[in-house]
Amino acid sequence: MVAVSSADGSSNEGNPQGRQRDGWSSRTAFILAAIGSAVGLGNLVRFPAEAAANGGGAFVLFYIFCILLIGLPVLLSETLIGRYGQSSATISVRRMAEASKASRYWEGLAGLGVLGSFMILAFYCVIGGWVLYYIGLFLGDIFTSGVTGGALTGMSAEAIAAIFPALLENGLMLTGLDIAFVAITLYFVARGVAGGIEIVAVWLMPAFFTLLLGITIYGAFSGAFAESLVYLFTFDFSKLTGSVMLAAVGQAFFSLSLGMAGMITYGSYVSRDVNLAGTSAIIAASDTAVALIAGLCIFPIVLAAGLSTEGGLGLMFNTLPHAFQSMPGGSVIGLLFFIMVGFAALTSSVALMEVPTAWAREKFKTPRAPTAIAIAGLAMALGAASAYSFSALSDFHPLDFIPLFAGETVFETLDSVTAKLFMPIGAILTSIFVGWIAERHLIDMQTGLTGGMHQFWRFLVRWLCPMVLSLILIVGIFPSVVGG
Ligand code: PFF
Repeated sequence: MVAVSSADGSSNEGNPQGRQRDGWSSRTAFILAAIGSAVGLGNLVRFPAEAAANGGGAFVLFYIFCILLIGLPVLLSETLIGRYGQSSATISVRRMAEASKASRYWEGLAGLGVLGSFMILAFYCVIGGWVLYYIGLFLGDIFTSGVTGGALTGMSAEAIAAIFPALLENGLMLTGLDIAFVAITLYFVARGVAGGIEIVAVWLMPAFFTLLLGITIYGAFSGAFAESLVYLFTFDFSKLTGSVMLAAVGQAFFSLSLGMAGMITYGSYVSRDVNLAGTSAIIAASDTAVALIAGLCIFPIVLAAGLSTEGGLGLMFNTLPHAFQSMPGGSVIGLLFFIMVGFAALTSSVALMEVPTAWAREKFKTPRAPTAIAIAGLAMALGAASAYSFSALSDFHPLDFIPLFAGETVFETLDSVTAKLFMPIGAILTSIFVGWIAERHLIDMQTGLTGGMHQFWRFLVRWLCPMVLSLILIVGIFPSVVGG
């Protein structure tokens, strides 16, 4: 089949309506952009923190199991809907629903994802802003202390430990950094798929992998690599409790960017001749490899400095800077490390902004750049409220009247509403829609799977995915079920 290319090199192939549409310039570009969406703060910050909080090896093994049996089938389902619909997420679902003579209200599953992506964007860019701050911190350190010494030379342990809390309390600074990160994201989204989103992925992902491997190898020689290997890969099954399993499924979904309409949107720019099962497998494998390597990058550095691997977000923003202090060349490693995290965060925030932008463009029939600017403006406003969640707005709990979200700040509410409700509901509806509602002929030809593998995928999408995801939803709403 021959792809129809528009002047900007985008592909029109597979578009049921035959409209000219911006799209990835090649299969590689799609793979890199989708990996860019998947690989982000979730892999570098959330995965090591969750692994540390949930017993190391047991969590890791179950996580891999979740990626293979639940994440991958849903990833294929999402890209498949997008590629069929060749539109924004909601319209893609509607097209498939209409072609299957099902209710168009199925598009609600994508609507939820569009809203969820916007909500994640708002707090994700606040964390992106922290990364910018640390890049500045280590850059300043190199200027003042040179490249050979450890990082943050002359600072006491207490002074280093005070950096992150002081940053969090400075709402104005956090808002400024958030606005800067949203603006960088906007720059690429406003330029379009082939001209912006793809460029950021094609340039930054290889740079990201190089930095990750480089820092990991450096850390392996100067840190506690063997100890970290044992920690991450010793499977003590007695540690595999209900709450560990749930943390692993939740992490797998967040990491693969599922349930948030992101992969439907990215799938919509893919041409017909791409084998979706093969590319989904590459995306999932790369995302998992990055999470594991991130563990092997961060833990040796932290363990070698005799520090604790626990502490959630503090693991990256508090413990690591501390560990860099005692490393030879620590300021350079610190700088490179946070640049690497910034690259990963940017390729994900671009995906998060593209989802509502693509939706709004089609809904309001507006051009790309002004639409993206409007979305960015809204994300900055909600981001400011998230940024002040650690200072002036720390007592403002927007959903206090809902027990599940009581006592949570704006920042925490955005995270938990999307992780506990939107993500599982979106993913359950996606698997039911693809497994039970959509006409088989719309699905079967598109997966790129044959024979037994295709049957197995159908089984997973129809049965295992909705069941396991419903369990996550229920336990997320009633945590007492697993005693967590
Ligand atoms: N997968 C990204 C990460 O691991 O950081 C986060 C994310 C991006 C979630 C895009 C959802 C999404 F649509």
